[in-house]
Amino acid sequence: MRSKIISTGSYLPEKILTNKDLEKIVDTSDEWITQRTGIRVRHIADKETTSDLAYKAALEAIDSANVDPLEIDAIIVATVTPDMPLPATALFVQEKLGAKNAFAFDINAACSGFMYALSIADSYIKNNLAKKILVIGAEVLTNMIDWQDRSTCVIFGDGAACVLLDATENEDEGILSMKLHSDGKYTDLMIVEAPGSYKPCSKDVIDNRDIYVKMKGNETFKMAVRHIVEVSKEVLGDVNMEFSDVDLMISHQANRRIIESVGRRAGLPAEKVVISIDKHANTAAASIPLALDWAHKNGEIKKGDILLLNSFGASLTWSAGIIKW
Ligand code: ACO
Repeated sequence: MRSKIISTGSYLPEKILTNKDLEKIVDTSDEWITQRTGIRVRHIADKETTSDLAYKAALEAIDSANVDPLEIDAIIVATVTPDMPLPATALFVQEKLGAKNAFAFDINAACSGFMYALSIADSYIKNNLAKKILVIGAEVLTNMIDWQDRSTCVIFGDGAACVLLDATENEDEGILSMKLHSDGKYTDLMIVEAPGSYKPCSKDVIDNRDIYVKMKGNETFKMAVRHIVEVSKEVLGDVNMEFSDVDLMISHQANRRIIESVGRRAGLPAEKVVISIDKHANTAAASIPLALDWAHKNGEIKKGDILLLNSFGASLTWSAGIIKW
C-alpha cells in the first residue's frame, strides 16, 4: 500500500501588505526586500484564526477530490501558530468541516512541519491505520512578528494549504520515500521564547518582546542551503535516483536566493524549480503545500512526474521527500 496525493487546496487571507507598505513601518525598501528575499507581498489574517485558514484550504482540497468530509479518517495540522495552546487547531478544523469520523492532531516542526506531517500520514496509510488523510500546513505568523524588527517583519506572512492523501495499491505512484532530520544544538538560530514553561506569560516577557520571533538570518541561510542539498541527495539515493531524474523541485519558500542556490547545486534548470515566495512570503509550515498547490493549479505537474520536496526550518529541522505524481 502506498499513499498518493489526490487533491490540493490553499487559502490566503484577503488583506495584502506590500513591500512599499512596509517602508512606512520600518527602515527598509522594496528594493532590499525584493533583491534579498524575492518577496513582493505577504497576506495578513486580520480577524481569521489559523483554523479558519486551514479549514478553507482543506475544503478546497475535499471539494476538488469530490470527497465527503465523513470519509476523512485523519486530519493533521502542521503549525507553529495554533489558534490556542489547547485544544489542537486540527480539532477546530475537524468541527468546521464536519469530518466526524476523523481523528485530528497538530504537529510542530517549524517550516518542516508539513513534511513531518506528510511522513506521519504516509506511515498511517502504509500501516493501514487510515486511508483518506488531510495534511494541512497553516500559519498566522504575523501575530508572532516584532513589527519593530526589520530583519524579521519583512519576511513572514499568513496562509494555509492542504493535500488530501488516499491509499493506492499501485506501487508505481505516490510518496516513494521521505527523510527527516533535526538538530537541537541550534535552537537559538530562530526562537520565540515565550509564553511557555520556560518563560510563562507575564508583563516582563511582553515588555522584553520575548513573545516575538528572533532569528539569526545569515547563519540560518548558510546552513539551509547545505542541509537541503544533502537531505535531497539522501532521499534520491533511497530510491536510486539522481537530481537529473527530478521533474520539479518544491522547496520551503523562505528565501528566493536559498531556493535558487539549491537549484544551482542540484544542476536543475530554473523551469524545474518552483518559486512562489513572491506571492505569499515565508509562511512556515504552509509554504511547501502553498508552492505545490500553486504549481498544480498552474498545470506545472503532469501525471508520472517526479517531485522533489525539501524543507528547512527552526531550529533546526530539515527534510526531503520524493513523490511520483
Ligand atoms: N531592510 C533593509 N536592510 C536590512 C533589512 C531590511 N528589512 N534587514 C536587514 N537589513 C540589513 C542588515 O542590517 C545588514 O546591514 P549592515 O550590513 O549595515 O549590518 C544588511 O541588511 C545585511 O543583513 P543580513 O542579515 O546579512 O541579510 P541577509 O542577506 O542574510 O538577508 C534574511 C536576511 C533575508 C533574513 C536571510 O538571511 C534569510 O533569508 N535567512 C534564512 C531564513 C530562514 O531560512 N529561516 C528558517 C526558516 S523559517 C522557520 O522555520 C519558521
